[in-house]
Amino acid sequence: TAGGGQAPAGTAFTAVAPNTEDAVVIPENYEQAVVIRWGDPVLPGAPAFDFDRQTPRAQEMQFGFNNDFAGLLPVEGRPNTHLLVVNHEYTTEPFMFRGYDAENPTLEQFQTAIAAHGLSVVQVAGEPGSGRLTPEFGPNNRRITANTEFLVTGPAAGSPLLATTADPTATRVLGTLNNCSGGITPWGTVLSGEENFNQYFANADQVTDPTAAARLKRYGVTGGASERKWERFDPRFDLAREPNEVNRFGYVVEVNPWDPASTPVKHTALGRFKHEAATIHVTDDGTVVAYSGDDERFDYMYKFVSSRKMMPGAGQASMRHNLTLLDAGTLYVATLTGDEPDRIDGSGTLPPAGRFAGRGQWIPLLRTGDDGRGESLVDGMSAEEVAVFTRLAGDRVGATKMDRPEDFEPNPKTGKVYVALTNNSKRGADGTPAADEPNPRNNNKNGQVLEIEDDHAGTEFTWNLLLVCGDPAAADTYFGGFDKSRVSPISCPDNLAFDPHGNLWISTDGNALKSNDGLFSVVLDGARRGETKQFLTVPKGAETCGPIIGDSRVMVCVQHPGELDGASADAPASHWPDGGTSQPRPAVVAVWPAGGGRVGV
Ligand code: FEO
Ligand code: CA
Ligand code: CA
Ligand code: CA
Repeated sequence: TAGGGQAPAGTAFTAVAPNTEDAVVIPENYEQAVVIRWGDPVLPGAPAFDFDRQTPRAQEMQFGFNNDFAGLLPVEGRPNTHLLVVNHEYTTEPFMFRGYDAENPTLEQFQTAIAAHGLSVVQVAGEPGSGRLTPEFGPNNRRITANTEFLVTGPAAGSPLLATTADPTATRVLGTLNNCSGGITPWGTVLSGEENFNQYFANADQVTDPTAAARLKRYGVTGGASERKWERFDPRFDLAREPNEVNRFGYVVEVNPWDPASTPVKHTALGRFKHEAATIHVTDDGTVVAYSGDDERFDYMYKFVSSRKMMPGAGQASMRHNLTLLDAGTLYVATLTGDEPDRIDGSGTLPPAGRFAGRGQWIPLLRTGDDGRGESLVDGMSAEEVAVFTRLAGDRVGATKMDRPEDFEPNPKTGKVYVALTNNSKRGADGTPAADEPNPRNNNKNGQVLEIEDDHAGTEFTWNLLLVCGDPAAADTYFGGFDKSRVSPISCPDNLAFDPHGNLWISTDGNALKSNDGLFSVVLDGARRGETKQFLTVPKGAETCGPIIGDSRVMVCVQHPGELDGASADAPASHWPDGGTSQPRPAVVAVWPAGGGRVGV
C-alpha cells in the first residue's frame, strides 16, 4: 500500500489511475453491476424502456433521468432488502430525444421531462456473497415528479409571496425541481435539496417591479424564454403570468419513503436558496441540526437547529413527531475568519502555521416557533422574506462568501462536519471577493474540503481545510499534511459520505485535471490523515454522485454519461452502460469485493 504500513480499514484497495474510459473503472479484485438506470421500471405496469418510443405515461412509472443523490434504507424484517431512494436532478432533452429541436419542443417532450424529474423509491434485493442489487416491485415503490403535490410548512406557508392562481392558499405546490444531493434522516425519511430551480422559469426580463426584479436576479432567475420552454405548456413557469411560482421552489424537501401515499413536504423554516442537500446531526439531548450549503459562487453555508427533540423508535407516533422536527427552530448562516488572514495571497501558499484554519460563527436569521410562525432576526426583513429570500438575509448580516458549498455532512463517528467547496473560477476576478483563508485560491479550478468542529446546537466553531484539491504535484494543493507523492489527484469535490470506519469519501463533478470524475477515500485521523485514494472513475462526460459507502458494497450514481460538448442523442459520446451503439443512460452502480467480503479491508 502507498503510505507505508497497513492501510486504515476501509481504504485498503489499489487506487484507480486517472483515465478517460467510457466505463466505470474499479479496483482490482472488485466487481460491479448496474442497479437501475434511466427508464427501468419502478412501478408495476411500466413498459420496457424504448428510447425511440418514450412516452410521458411510461416515464411516470420508470426510473427518472440524471440520478444524483442515492440513499439506501434497510427494510425491517426482510434481510438483504432495502429501499433505494434516488433524486433525478434535471433533464437534458437533446440526450433524451433524437432530433430534439430546442426552439420547438413538443408537448410530449415537455410532459416526459416533467415525469423524468423528482425522485424514485424502489425496493432492491441483495444476495449472499455479492453486492449485486436487483430492483423489485415493493409496496413502497414510488415516483415523485415535477407534478406531484407537496405540502408547504414553516414560516412561508400561506404567505402571499407563495400565492398563485392555482393555489391561493400558498400551501400546496406541484412538484419538486432540480433535486441535487440529499440525506437520510435518523428517523427514516429522505431530505433532498432543490438546487438550480432558476433555470425553469421564463420572462424574468418582463418583471418591472424593482424589488421583485432584484430578488429574481439574486437567485439567478434571468432572461426571456427558458431553456426547456416549459412556459409554453404550463403558465406557472412564466413569471409574467405567475410571478410567485418561482418562490415555491428552492427548499429542502422531505419524503417519507415508507408511505407511498404520503404528501412530501417543503420545509421553509430551512430557508430558500440553491440547497445542495441537507444532512442531519443529532445532539445528545435529541436536538436536530440540519446542515445545508448554497451551491453558487460566493454563496453561503447554513444550519438549522430544531427546538423540538427527536423521538426515538420506529413506530408511527415517532414518525409523526419527527416529521415536524424541521418545522420549528432557528436558521443560521456562517461567517468564517482565518488565523492568518494577512498571509493569504490567493496563490494557495500555506500560511506559516502549515495549514489554513480559523474560527467561525453562526449568525441567526430566522426563528420558527412551535406554531410555525416565523420571527425575523434580520433588520429590515420580515420572517416570510427571510424564509423566501434567504440569500438577501445572508447578504445583510455579512455572511462569508464561499467557493460553491456543495455537500455539507457530519461524520457520524466523530461529529466533525465537512463541506465540499467545489470550485470558483470567479474568485479574485474583477469586482469579486479575493481569496481568503477558507477560500485560499483566486481562479479556484479544483476546490477544497473544509473540516469543522461545530458546537452543533450553539453558535461557535473552528475550521481548517482538510484538502486543497488539484494535482498533488502542484504547489497550490494540500492533502491534510500527508505526503503528496502518495495521493491520487482530485478535483472539484461535490458529494461527501462516510464509510463504517469513519473515513471520508468524496465524489467529484467537473474534474479540471482532464480525466474522468471519480470517487475517493480520504483518511481523517492518525499519521495517514489526508491520504486520498481513487476508488473508481465514471464514464467520460459523467459526474460521480450519491455515493453510499457500506460495509460490503459501494454505490454511486453515474449522472449524465456522455454529456460532452457537441454530443447529443444524434451523436452520442458515450455508450455506457448498455454498450454497442446504444444511447448513454444515467444509472446507479454497485461495486463490491469479488466473491463478497468487506470494502477496503
Ligand atoms: Fe447539483 Fe451543486 O450540484
Ligand atoms: Ca452536487
Ligand atoms: Ca452526501
Ligand atoms: Ca454536480
